[in-house]
Amino acid sequence: MSSLPAGAAPGKIILFGEHAVVYGRPAVAAALGHGLGATAERDPLGPCLRIPSWGKSGLEVRLQAPGKDFDAIARAFAAALDAAGLGRPPVAITLDGELPLGVGLGSSAAFAVAILRCLAAYRREPFTSEGLLEAAALVEAVFHGNASGLDHTVVAHGACLRFQRGLDPAFAPIALAHPVPLVVAWTPREGSTRDAVAGLQVRHDAHRVWYERLFDHIGQLAEEGIVALEKGDISGLGVLFDLNQGLLNACGVSSLANERMVGIARRHGALGAKLTGAGMGGAIIAVVPEQPRRVVDALRGAGFDAIATRVGG
Ligand code: PMV
Repeated sequence: MSSLPAGAAPGKIILFGEHAVVYGRPAVAAALGHGLGATAERDPLGPCLRIPSWGKSGLEVRLQAPGKDFDAIARAFAAALDAAGLGRPPVAITLDGELPLGVGLGSSAAFAVAILRCLAAYRREPFTSEGLLEAAALVEAVFHGNASGLDHTVVAHGACLRFQRGLDPAFAPIALAHPVPLVVAWTPREGSTRDAVAGLQVRHDAHRVWYERLFDHIGQLAEEGIVALEKGDISGLGVLFDLNQGLLNACGVSSLANERMVGIARRHGALGAKLTGAGMGGAIIAVVPEQPRRVVDALRGAGFDAIATRVGG
């Protein structure tokens, strides 16, 4: 019995530099242990995309008649089929996994990369690394507009990376001295990544000098964060998280929910905490080397989702 063509991709967290990365500053991101997987099977009525765990009763998107609510997903699926050079094949893709959606943990990049890898297995011709990045950028653009490229780069590589738009190559691997013990917590977002990026762009365009200065500081913290990661300086990392969070707040992308999650994590033993991703709700990360359960329980007790995890190792 032959197994179905399949592809998988991890989620991601941004350790330093979200938003400033759109303006050419460096950022640091890493693959998460949670992710998405895709399998392909023949469907004479295809192409079709099934996502059993999304929405209340799951999603089924058929390109012939994309539902109004699922237009972006249908367009992203069509972009993946086009990028794989497959036209409209008689195939159904099932996408599943344990990554929460739309909270800044890279679900749209994992969507793109898992489906593209699955389509490459279906056509029996893997993407080159560059081809996968290019294709994933096209798919992700459907969701994110002016995206920096950070998400799909980290998700496709599955490591801890320094990323800077405009450099060639844009990314460089970071060798962690030790795995970094983190708690990740999340809550629904008040707006999309696209909204958060667009809102900041309006503020930036109105007060360019002030915001450029903030982005410079965030970029410097990313560089110092890399040194801390390479040295295994976990408490230094916590301080840098707190400083980065203050600057993200100054940029106007941190919500009350982000501040509450960060505050709870710090009060229960985190060495530092910040939002991760676009903000406006969504996810936070906290450095918690001891008793992560206390932080997870406190966050859950306050109504947030939370997990203890590690980056690297
Ligand atoms: O929240 P996410 O995973 O969509 O991350 C967005 C990161 C930003 O820096 C805000 C935008 C980008 O394209 O890099």
